[in-house]
Amino acid sequence: MRRFTCAQDIGPWRDAVKEALAIKDNRFAYDTLGKNRTLLMIFFNSSLRTRLSTQKAAMNLGMNVMVLDVNQGAWKLETERGVVMDGDKAEHLLEAIPVMGSYCDIIGVRSFAGLKNREEDYEERVIEQFIRYSGRPVFSMEAATRHPLQSFADLITIEEYKKVERPKVVLTWAPHPKALPQAVANSFCEWMNMTDYDFVVTHPHGYELDAAFVGNAKVEYDQRKAFAGADFIYAKNWSAYTGQNYGKVLSTDKDWTVDADKMSLTNDAMFMHCLPVRRNMIVTDEVIESPRSIVIPEAANREISAQTVIKRMLEAL
Ligand code: CP
Repeated sequence: MRRFTCAQDIGPWRDAVKEALAIKDNRFAYDTLGKNRTLLMIFFNSSLRTRLSTQKAAMNLGMNVMVLDVNQGAWKLETERGVVMDGDKAEHLLEAIPVMGSYCDIIGVRSFAGLKNREEDYEERVIEQFIRYSGRPVFSMEAATRHPLQSFADLITIEEYKKVERPKVVLTWAPHPKALPQAVANSFCEWMNMTDYDFVVTHPHGYELDAAFVGNAKVEYDQRKAFAGADFIYAKNWSAYTGQNYGKVLSTDKDWTVDADKMSLTNDAMFMHCLPVRRNMIVTDEVIESPRSIVIPEAANREISAQTVIKRMLEAL
């Protein structure tokens, strides 16, 4: 594997989950595969889970790990070609990327959407430049439009907890005070659409996602109807995608908060969220603390999804 930025890059999903669960059973089985190999993790944005789980995954494989927080201690980077660099950005990404590539064997990149210009965001300019100019295998640690390591961990978690072969999985928008990218929601749709699950997306009017990600999922604007009979509720906020509203917060309506009353409409559903989560905006204390909440094992599976991807990259070096 030379790149991992979307669902298609993982190949047949059942094989990937099987491999991931085997790694979970014995996560040190390949502890010499990464000997004398270096992973460079580059963060343009903050992280807790991605940083720790990916570093742990690489360590399980015997790798050395370097972490660069671009906004803390590195030169401020220009990302656009053709810009006269007479401002505060001292280095261009086009030099920085091959230099970074020369110090490592595999690169992980986190670079969120700017939420100002939809076309620029959806071109995935930053991670695509890393793929083009680093000379190294590159994986996404959340890019502008997708968060594939999260979605892979979500899929593993659903496969572990499902009680029926084809569970009903509901992605629900929920309120948040700040504008967040669509990446987690897009990616979750993309990965769920690979499976044969009964997959439903629910959100208020105005929060329609890119149709390319929604695919054949059922879109239901009535959240309570969507929850009926669900086996998994996956909550997430995203900002508007459509038209002039791109990147805007259109609503913080707490009628969309996931609470115990709505969960009672489900088939005793498990509650999922990628974290970090705003309690009593996205989900009530009662639901996230309930025995049906699987947000912690979901986060723990981030180590497993990362290890599966890095293992495949090491095997292809
Ligand atoms: N879910 C997730 O990616 O968490 P972090 O932003 O903390 O890495």
